[in-house]
Amino acid sequence: MIPARRPIVLSGFMATGKSTVGRLVANTLGVSFLDLDDYVVEQAGKSVPEIFASEGEARFREREAEAINSILGDGIPRVISFGGGTVTIEHVRHATLERATVVTLTARAETILSRVASLQGRPNLVARSPADRTRDLLSLRREAYGECHATISTEGVTPEEIASKIVALADRDLLAMPLGSRSYAIELADDEPLRLTSTLKELRPSSIIVVTDSNVRRFRGHWLESALANIGDLRTLTIEIAPGETSKTLATIARIWNEALAFGVDRDAVVLAFGGGVVGDLAGFAASTLLRGVRCVQVATTVLSMVDSSVGGKTGFDHAAGKNLIGAFFQPSRVLLDLAHLSTLPVRERAAGLAEVVKIALVTDASLLDAIEAHAEGLARGERDALRTIVRDAVQAKIRVVRDDERESGRRALLNLGHTVGHALEAHGGYAAHLHGEAVAVGTVIEMKATERLGLTPRGLAARAETLFRRLGLATHTSPEDIAASWPYVLADKKRAATSMKLPVVTGAGQGAVETISLDVLRAAALAVT
Ligand code: GLY
Repeated sequence: MIPARRPIVLSGFMATGKSTVGRLVANTLGVSFLDLDDYVVEQAGKSVPEIFASEGEARFREREAEAINSILGDGIPRVISFGGGTVTIEHVRHATLERATVVTLTARAETILSRVASLQGRPNLVARSPADRTRDLLSLRREAYGECHATISTEGVTPEEIASKIVALADRDLLAMPLGSRSYAIELADDEPLRLTSTLKELRPSSIIVVTDSNVRRFRGHWLESALANIGDLRTLTIEIAPGETSKTLATIARIWNEALAFGVDRDAVVLAFGGGVVGDLAGFAASTLLRGVRCVQVATTVLSMVDSSVGGKTGFDHAAGKNLIGAFFQPSRVLLDLAHLSTLPVRERAAGLAEVVKIALVTDASLLDAIEAHAEGLARGERDALRTIVRDAVQAKIRVVRDDERESGRRALLNLGHTVGHALEAHGGYAAHLHGEAVAVGTVIEMKATERLGLTPRGLAARAETLFRRLGLATHTSPEDIAASWPYVLADKKRAATSMKLPVVTGAGQGAVETISLDVLRAAALAVT
């Protein structure tokens, strides 16, 4: 199911051609065009300079926010050109990214100045040196402009050429991770290898280092081959690792470094992660360290990597002392989620990935939790429409968490729900007894029952989560003996302090908080509920 066409918002500095291009795009798509400044002026009954002079810029921005709320609230897929400073307000920018496809048009300061025929009606450029003011504003707004679904340079191209690029974006299913200059698009597709071809063409790499595993290559290799068949004469190295968590080691990282360096990788190369969570974490970490960092594109092929590991920039590998103990935050340049990959995913892997979706919903998004419950049987059967809806909503929920706390100094730690006990069970089982998501499902239920017992989670929520995991085909039980035997791995967890641990706690449906809990109390509660 392709989602309904969304509104298109053109953003960028004044004189980048937003209105001219916007009208062309609207004409081609057969939808209406709206200039936000004109709308605000009409509502206010005053010109923009008059609003600035009589009410101040802050009130002008509020007027813009109110206008955007009502324009994007009606669900009509029109083209809207924003004012140059509209996206400087964070909540406006973030809300717009969730409801429209945002394209930033760019131009150099000199080009902008040559295009601004008169400063009348441009209150932000009234300064002793409009050139300096332009450069200052461009620099101040660089991060905000970077938070978009696509950026298009307007240098040396006609409005028609720009418009045709935007029209080509209209039917794409794009989400945006807004992280300033490290922002990136996350694209959903359905059996569309050409989406990867276009992504790579836009990134213009000098070469591509594909990291994949033998299972993914066997079942999905044809998809990758058809994506790469159309990128022209680009040197490509493929590094195939053994599937599974046991590959997530420094030795595999060293192999990627060695092969990439022997291949002659340079700073303009792209590392392409083609696989699930293990491949993505390894490829991302290798990209973050090769030549001090080359770009990485994540092409996720499992539910788990689509909704969790490919998005948000956590990369790394396991250590004998525990899982994911060595790593770095390194954001990808793009993420591509093609639902067709899930058609060959084993049922057990699909269910394990859905555990991460439930986890995200439990601590951040009550409506996502309701939606998973509504689609549970379809998800368990692997119905493509249900998966696409839930994957998109889960990724959007994760985007909200990561954009507000990229480096996990607060809210992002909520996404570790179920991972303290889950990781311990995985490590205790030698990473062979449980898939990661299976361990997360068991860990989530045990942690929630334990925090219910401690009065931190409302009664009934653990049972609700347990029922949902089971409907998705996941086991939720483990024995007190397994909990006791896996406890040494809890003690090695990176969230542990001397005698306590910061634990994500479900405090309501779709709500969480990080609580410091004594390790002894947690152990006793976990043993009591199993
Ligand atoms: N997998 C949890 C996170 O990305 O924070």
